[in-house]
Amino acid sequence: MTALQQVKPHAHYTVQLPRSDDFAFWRERARALIQCDIPPDKIAWVEPGGTDDLFSSGGMRLPEPPADAPPVRASKRYLSLASNAALHRDPARFTLLYRLLWRLQRNPRIMEDKADPDVGRVEELDKNVRRDSHKMHAFVRFRQVEAEDGEHYVAWFEPEHHILRANAGFFRRRFASMRWSILTPQGTLHWDGETMREGPPAQKTDAPHGDPVEDLWRTYYTSIFNPARLKVGAMLSEMPRKYWKNLPEAALIPELIASAQQRESAMVAAGERDDGVRPESLEAIGEAIQACRKCPIGCLDNRAVMGEGPQNGQTHAALMIVGEQPGDQEDQEGRPFVGPAGQLLDVHLERAGIDRGRAYVTNAVKHFKFTMRGKRRLHQSPTAKEIDTCRWWIESERALVKPKLVLAMGASAARGMLGKTVSISKVRGQAIALDDGSELWVTAHPSYLLRLDGDAREKQAMLFDADLAAVRARLAELAGQ
Ligand code: URA
Repeated sequence: MTALQQVKPHAHYTVQLPRSDDFAFWRERARALIQCDIPPDKIAWVEPGGTDDLFSSGGMRLPEPPADAPPVRASKRYLSLASNAALHRDPARFTLLYRLLWRLQRNPRIMEDKADPDVGRVEELDKNVRRDSHKMHAFVRFRQVEAEDGEHYVAWFEPEHHILRANAGFFRRRFASMRWSILTPQGTLHWDGETMREGPPAQKTDAPHGDPVEDLWRTYYTSIFNPARLKVGAMLSEMPRKYWKNLPEAALIPELIASAQQRESAMVAAGERDDGVRPESLEAIGEAIQACRKCPIGCLDNRAVMGEGPQNGQTHAALMIVGEQPGDQEDQEGRPFVGPAGQLLDVHLERAGIDRGRAYVTNAVKHFKFTMRGKRRLHQSPTAKEIDTCRWWIESERALVKPKLVLAMGASAARGMLGKTVSISKVRGQAIALDDGSELWVTAHPSYLLRLDGDAREKQAMLFDADLAAVRARLAELAGQ
């Protein structure tokens, strides 16, 4: 006997959802019910622990759709909003989603009707859920605990909606090499570096409180806190007070606000560089670029991304790799070349036998330049003037890193090194002498490869590989000199 039976006219149906966040299950049942032409007011969607208040009889078993039932229509926009809205804690959400799906069969353009109250409500639920996920990404703070088998990181978080499982992938990708647990009142996630396990709800007292990682967060927060951009209202909306109790750095906020003006003057002085004295260490450059507002890019809602490497902790590196500017992911993580272009770069470097861990990797422009498209930040190329303004920093880095060879990827990077625009096809594959006796090599930017497909991409990938192979060979020669 299957759970799906023949349609009974005038019957009521109860669907027991196995989990509050199981959109796939809901969707499958909703499709079958639409195909059986069951109207929204005949169905009760019941979450775990919930009761069927609508139909005290408990409802009928679900009907079987007829073999010739027409397919269910659901636009991409509906599915994208619905999959998020299903995670909202509003108990009426599944009824709303079904009603909208039902109406969509009769009016395929309904999602475009901005004045429709059902569409408006689904949009609102979607927005609340996305905001909750955003907060989770920003405010989960791991605390280090010593387990029998080594270090483990544990975080406590209180989501407003059923977002825990939906965000498991984000934390797995971001903290792939750590062993961690995220505890919430809805359930728990445990990652051991290889597999993800889910566990029962936890209490705040299950999570450790206060440890050296907290100090690290505080130091980090103080260093990235930019008093020059302090807008208390905006800060409270981004970091609402209800999250403060779980954030070690929140204790610093009142003090940081109080001393903002003083720190701003100091930072402006540090970033002004009008005295023409170059910073004496990479750390000093890292601090000063946070305050740099010499061009409009530094005034956007972003942070400066400092160069990185080599892994042995030394300042000097034989190879310095220069990109254009941090992208969206680099801006979020505060590290160069960690997004899609960086991942492609890693593949080609490995293929060429170049160890990224021994190179110094940086960008010609230190801040991410973008324009907003809806909620997305879209990359914008820096102007020649902006690149030239930022040359102070890349030159300061080069003076400290003292590379024998600089590899500039893309036209912006080449301009950052030379102070003039060159054509990549004309200069690639050859050494250009720099003033300090080191060499500049120019190649394409990996983002350029990402924008191509088919034969064009293959051809450019081959040229890129050839340039990297030449750089590798030249580095070997220079090492022997
Ligand atoms: N593109 C760049 O030029 N630099 C980065 O750091 C990332 C993408």
